[in-house]
Amino acid sequence: MLNKLTNLTKTNNKESKKDIQLDLSRIPRHIAIIMDGNGRWAKKRGLPRVAGHREGMKVVRKVVKRANELGVKALTMYAFSTENWKRPKPEVEFIMKLPEQFLLTYLPELIEENVQVRIMGEKKGVPSYTLKAVHEAVERTKHNDGLILNFALNYGSRYEITQAVRQLASEIEEGKIKSEEVDEKLIGSYMMSSEVGDPELLIRTSGEIRLSNFMLWQLAYTELWFTDVYWPDFTASDLDQAILDYQNRGRRFGGV
Ligand code: IPE
Ligand code: IPE
Ligand code: MG
Repeated sequence: MLNKLTNLTKTNNKESKKDIQLDLSRIPRHIAIIMDGNGRWAKKRGLPRVAGHREGMKVVRKVVKRANELGVKALTMYAFSTENWKRPKPEVEFIMKLPEQFLLTYLPELIEENVQVRIMGEKKGVPSYTLKAVHEAVERTKHNDGLILNFALNYGSRYEITQAVRQLASEIEEGKIKSEEVDEKLIGSYMMSSEVGDPELLIRTSGEIRLSNFMLWQLAYTELWFTDVYWPDFTASDLDQAILDYQNRGRRFGGV
């Protein structure tokens, strides 16, 4: 039974190559992506893990381009989790240098395409050169009004929920809000994603069927889509396939 369920939500590279007809009037507004499998992609080729991260960066660019063409309004990309500090220091350092490289290479194109760059996550612990690069991109794209490219960097959902609760509690203590005013909408507004809202579709690459502390609050009714494809091999047509599957699902939200 479990295997069957898994297969229903998984696709492989071959399937995604077929010609895909999307209903452009039903494109998910917000797509969240857990970009996983960079290390295994590299290992399979006898390369160091960081080669996978470098390759993965190029895929971010391609996916942003395709999402923009399709009329997606927001893309949240899981770039580094609060748990990823457990990795070897050189790998962490390499990943922390990627935003700078990514933006140096692609920021002019992103500006051209009217993309708005955003970041969500805990700033403490992130190197200043990483924050500087991202903040510059946020600043330079803040007058754009196209696709929101939201990087989850040093992001963890339990951390996010914890800081939301802490902030709410302190505002109650200060008498700014009453405890009976706390509802789902208010809690949502304390989340780091409040600007982009809940994703309609979540994509995770690399064959892992888990959330790894990603957007636990926001994913309550999100359609989940998993693929065995490693992130560096992910293509625009894989994105199309995920959206096609999304369009073929019945979203009931508890109704009939
Ligand atoms: C995802 O790829 C990138 C980050 C988590 C930063 P991984 O580095 O987790 O690749 P695998 O899962 O080890 O193959
Ligand atoms: C999730 O991938 C984090 C990112 C993609 C940034 P991981 O590779 O860290 O997740 P686990 O450890 O396999 O759950
Ligand atoms: Mg991984």
